Amino acid sequence: MATAADGAQAPKIDYQIDFFTGQPYPVWADLRRSACPVAEVDGQTMGVFGRPSFLVTRWEDVEGILRDGETFSSSINAEHIGQFMGELMLAMDGKEHRAYRNLVAHAFRASQLEQWDDTLVRPTIDRLIDAIAPLGRADLVASVTSQYPVQVICGIVGVPLDDAVQFQRWAEQINTGPLDPPAGMAAAQAMRDYLAPLVEARRAEPTGDFLSDLVHAEVDGERLTDEKLYGFLRLLLPAGAETTFRAMGNALTALLTVPGLMERVQADRDLLPAVVEETLRWETSVTQVSRVATRDTEIAGCPVPAGAVLNVLTGSANHDEARYPDPEAFDPTRPPQNHMTFGTGQHQCLGMHLARMELRVGLGVILDRLPGLRLDPDAPPPVIEGLAFRGPNALHVRFDPS
Ligand code: HEM
Repeated sequence: MATAADGAQAPKIDYQIDFFTGQPYPVWADLRRSACPVAEVDGQTMGVFGRPSFLVTRWEDVEGILRDGETFSSSINAEHIGQFMGELMLAMDGKEHRAYRNLVAHAFRASQLEQWDDTLVRPTIDRLIDAIAPLGRADLVASVTSQYPVQVICGIVGVPLDDAVQFQRWAEQINTGPLDPPAGMAAAQAMRDYLAPLVEARRAEPTGDFLSDLVHAEVDGERLTDEKLYGFLRLLLPAGAETTFRAMGNALTALLTVPGLMERVQADRDLLPAVVEETLRWETSVTQVSRVATRDTEIAGCPVPAGAVLNVLTGSANHDEARYPDPEAFDPTRPPQNHMTFGTGQHQCLGMHLARMELRVGLGVILDRLPGLRLDPDAPPPVIEGLAFRGPNALHVRFDPS
């Protein structure tokens, strides 16, 4: 990891950035440039875990932390949502996590992805576009992006479209369980009761689908316990839908607002995968992951005590000028190199290939089926906003009706 001057102390900062509407990139850029790029958050402003809390801003330090699961544990992820989600792979370390991940990873194999592309992902986005194509105008967040990844995940799990809204409501109540514990617990149980018949049907007779893979997965004679299985199923919507829905809004914002970009992509569709990757770097929908220090340690030469919570800023790493020249600019022709949007190390996003495919397919269908797509001149332009989760709240557009 990078080192700071001898004896550097993490500065304390008053981190008053609004969770829903904040613009954190300028603050992160200042921190990356400071002698100690690791700042301690003033307890009054972000002591949500009741312990010292640090921001990690540079690429090198973010990467080092995410690849050192012994010194920087994921167990912190269990503290707030763990009791509602059940056994949560995001909160596990070491051998326990590896065994769990080996069991579920098979369900995301390449042949499943190919099958979902034709049978689920394209039909889902097509159906959503059918509803707006004749209208000539729409809010793409309300009509398309907020529904598309949710419906894809419901399809993957085997939840019928008619129940998708209910399924999403439970997922939200589980996710916000710390704010309303009785509702969070009730939703966790309701989701399990709802899924149980689907699980039992696959147990009795596997159909080759995602749920069958999960139920029958076996590694070294081990299978997923029910607690782990339902814990995983409860994680899928928050992990895979919230994230991808905002990423799609960010990509559309780039296409609609970066001068000349829409024309270039319309003229050369082969640019689309590079636009997806640059969007993920430029405005990641999830800007941070959490870890806890298991011992007294140093990050970039700055001391961090055992028990401290680390806000590992993947969004800031993606803008580190030591790795990306002119990082605020959207440039799909940058030389290809990994970004930090899906994390790295043992918890690297399990759904990243699915997310990329949904973005590529979804944007392609939108460009094909909404000719003349442009911002609505009578509506406010889109703004990508938020601290931990970023995306536009609305995307008002016009297009040629068909
Ligand atoms: C643009 C969309 C997405 C983003 C930005 C994203 C981001 C991330 C990140 C940063 C992590 C690592 C968390 C950590 O290290 O603590 C992660 C893990 C994970 N993601 Fe994603 N994700 C996306 C889409 C998806 C999708 C579509 C799915 C599945 C349907 C998914 C499932 C998961 C799972 C299961 C994990 C936990 C992996 C583990 O603990 O080993 N994600 N994701």
